[in-house]
Amino acid sequence: MRTIFRFFTRNGYRFIVKPYLFAKQPDKAHEMMISFAAWAQKVPLMMFLLRFTMKYEKQNLSQKLMGLEFKNPVGFAAGIDKNAEIGFCIEGSGFSFGSFGSITAKKSDGNPKPWYHRLPSYNALLIYAGLPNWGVDKVVYNLEKIYDNTKNFIVAGSLARTNSKEAATDEEGIKDYVYSIKKCRGKIGLIEINISCPNTFHGEPFTDPKRLDKLLTQTDKVTDYAPVTLKMPHDKTLEEFDELCAIAAKHNVQALTIGNLRKNRKHLSIPEEWNGNIAGKPTEHHNNKLITSTYKKWGSRFVIIGLGGIFSPVDAYRKIRAGASLIQIASALMYLGPTIVPDIKKGLEKHLEADGFKSIADAIGVDAK
Ligand SMILES: Cc1cc2nc3c(=O)[nH]c(=O)nc-3n(C[C@H](O)[C@H](O)[C@H](O)COP(=O)(O)O)c2cc1C
Repeated sequence: MRTIFRFFTRNGYRFIVKPYLFAKQPDKAHEMMISFAAWAQKVPLMMFLLRFTMKYEKQNLSQKLMGLEFKNPVGFAAGIDKNAEIGFCIEGSGFSFGSFGSITAKKSDGNPKPWYHRLPSYNALLIYAGLPNWGVDKVVYNLEKIYDNTKNFIVAGSLARTNSKEAATDEEGIKDYVYSIKKCRGKIGLIEINISCPNTFHGEPFTDPKRLDKLLTQTDKVTDYAPVTLKMPHDKTLEEFDELCAIAAKHNVQALTIGNLRKNRKHLSIPEEWNGNIAGKPTEHHNNKLITSTYKKWGSRFVIIGLGGIFSPVDAYRKIRAGASLIQIASALMYLGPTIVPDIKKGLEKHLEADGFKSIADAIGVDAK
């Protein structure tokens, strides 16, 4: 019965919902999707159907990491639900954890629109949002609701620096992060510090080792309530990336989320007048290299959360074999719909069995060793 429901949801998305949404301007389509999900999660029948259709839990996909129980390795990536408006739909879709935001200390309207362009020939999106959100003082109520009313679901707050001229110096930027981290105390289970949004007024100052050290010295004082993951930049060489890992290793950071949007447009045909940075398939190859090299050197120090271009179970499994303990998805949700979540879990289960691994933990990093 569940398989039939899933078949209709998968194909309903592919043949009805997606063509309808893709006929709209992407900013509008995104707004409609959030409004629909925010409405649906208030309707018990919709939630019952969602949970029934998406349910796929297997013991060998679960792990205890950073003191947290992850019922499976599949997470919802930061950026789609900026104000934590659809957390119950995310949990109901079968994700074990979700990053909401990125949220900043002060409210921000983001960059001038359009924020999004589709690049279907690359299975990609061009993102130019610039961290629009209601500000942590308001979003924290939504985080708290999800945190208090979900079971076996880890709420991660993706916290970034306000995108405005005001938080201009590094000191002000650091205060901005610290404010949001303090505000989320007791309302999130995982702190995701986003140092790598390429779409902002300040650029990414804390992807410089010295400045990262300064930031983490201050965040160390306020991150005692939950494990910390650093959302890492994509456009770094392995050596540059390693320098950032070495800094993070000196601080209260338990995980690295690898990685954020790709700035480099090389080999991609994207109209010059379209602003933004790339999500989706074109981020996959370099992220996998970063994951492999990070696992080799820092695998015993950090949990790796791998993302970028995951569109199938094979893509997810490749990241796990490269060294990721957990994975996240963003773009594939728009291209393939929510059934990608149970499809990945089911596919992972098959890959583990085919390779003779008893659990997900046995497969982590086997290709990096
Ligand atoms: C619509 C959209 C908005 C995003 N906004 C953010 C954000 O606010 N903060 C962040 O850390 N990453 C953001 N990202 C990046 C994703 O979290 C992820 O790192 C990237 O898209 C690669 O994953 P994917 O290939 O599965 O899309 C955004 C991505 C998308 C698609």
